[in-house]
Amino acid sequence: MTAAAPAPTSIREHPVVVLDLGGQYARLIARRVRDLGTYSEVVRGSIDADELLAMHPSAIILSGGPASVYEPGAPQVDPDVFGLGVPVLGICYGMQFMAKALGGEVSRNGVAEYGGTHLHRADDGGRLLDGIGEREQLVWMSHRDAVTRAPAGAIVTASTDQTPIAAFEDPARRLFAVQFHPEVVHTAHGETILDRFVHAIAQAPANWDPEHVIDEAVARIRAQVGDSGRVLCALSGGVDSSVAAMLVHRAVGDRLTCVFVDHGLLREGEAEQVVATMDGRFHVPVVHVDASDRFLELLAGVEDPERKRVIIGETFIRVFEQEAARIQREGDGEPVRFLVQGTLYSDVIESGGEDGVASNIKSHHNVGGLPDDMELELVEPLRLLFKDEARRVGEAVGLPPDLVWRQPFPGPGLGIRIVGSVDAERLRIVRAADAILRAEVAEAGLDRSIWQYFTVLLADVRSVGVQGDARTYAHPIVIRAVTSDDAMTADWARIPYEALSRISSRIVGEVDGVNRVLVDVTSKPPGTIEWE
Ligand code: XMP
Repeated sequence: MTAAAPAPTSIREHPVVVLDLGGQYARLIARRVRDLGTYSEVVRGSIDADELLAMHPSAIILSGGPASVYEPGAPQVDPDVFGLGVPVLGICYGMQFMAKALGGEVSRNGVAEYGGTHLHRADDGGRLLDGIGEREQLVWMSHRDAVTRAPAGAIVTASTDQTPIAAFEDPARRLFAVQFHPEVVHTAHGETILDRFVHAIAQAPANWDPEHVIDEAVARIRAQVGDSGRVLCALSGGVDSSVAAMLVHRAVGDRLTCVFVDHGLLREGEAEQVVATMDGRFHVPVVHVDASDRFLELLAGVEDPERKRVIIGETFIRVFEQEAARIQREGDGEPVRFLVQGTLYSDVIESGGEDGVASNIKSHHNVGGLPDDMELELVEPLRLLFKDEARRVGEAVGLPPDLVWRQPFPGPGLGIRIVGSVDAERLRIVRAADAILRAEVAEAGLDRSIWQYFTVLLADVRSVGVQGDARTYAHPIVIRAVTSDDAMTADWARIPYEALSRISSRIVGEVDGVNRVLVDVTSKPPGTIEWE
């Protein structure tokens, strides 16, 4: 790599660092802080105080966690963290750990609190809670243990019927603690409380917004890729790779070539839209490889979902690899050196101290199967963003809303939405039904509130129906629509009956080969979102 300018770090200079103590909420806390306009990242709870200080945090938050502080093996925080002079907020387990470390007492008083709980603020709500909301307010709790004696010097600022010490603080030492979860939406004033901690108390910078994120990403990409070498990006048609490609294009212009491998398993209109947007509108060079025949040939007769996934994944890599080799061979002599991936924060396993932007990994560790002699350095400009943040960046760089707000779509595409083997006729059916569902969900104004909604073709099932005056013997289509935050858990979406009725009659009326529409009312778990 040529001598590169040092990467700017401005908007990440004073992060709010969240110590992960095993709670499901550590990432959510970081995200809420970022929604408030300040950069925040998650590190392992066991990080040394020195290491933490080297990150120049503006504030530290200890997350919740399922353990009990007295349990062997319970997550530990370096007690020196409390003496750094940096404001610390302990949440749930974080509060209990803080109390114990500072000489207070934690015990299991036999009463657990789960879910919505009334919090009574003390006469003196302290710096954190004073004046926020009503004296009695709804908070969200999830705990068995509780602090039964606050550390010396701390004042108790709130209680509940079951928990006399539901919040305490020691303002002189800049230590704050709450038993409830301010990061979840069910806590009425959670956002205001976090905002007060991060901005009024810790005075963290408020400069985490799409414009700053774009400027910094572009500068970092330039610093990483220097001024020679071709950069490749595999466009999938989804939000992440499109946003990543746009950022890299801003940084290096025509040194970027996008390769769009069309496996023929995309939704209606998708391939055309990707090419029209990227190439036609933004002049990002896109090589559109229509490999659908090759995928269909290899998928013929394959019913097993895992086999289908493997075939699609491997073939995708092979096609991409051939194109990369061709671009290298026929190109302008610039060696292909970089590979852009739209990896999101949620795909990355956090660890303390990670610089978080790009790592020098042999490409085959990541994209499985690229040849060893093609050692590509990964460029991952979205690595520190959640999906929503990537979407906001996408909007800010001018990508059209229907691309930016596109629902998540699995790599194997419609191939895993046909239960049974895949062929062109079956793809026609599931694609047409999906297009109707999408149009009607949008028409009903539900497209942003439902996480994913799609159709599944039960290709090996047929049932009897009657249409016109004729008997039919055709396939059922299943509507799968779920609400979710992160796809780890999901609930089935309550689409209004009127909308379902329109969707059903349109699908049966307009899609040849379908005579019945079913709705999947299974949550995840026990179901998965996709059927295969
Ligand atoms: P499941 O079906 O496991 O899906 O509940 C969870 C989320 O992941 C998506 N998904 C995939 N995404 N490649 C992907 O890129 C895949 O092979 C794949 N399988 C499932 C799914 O659409 C949902 O958002």
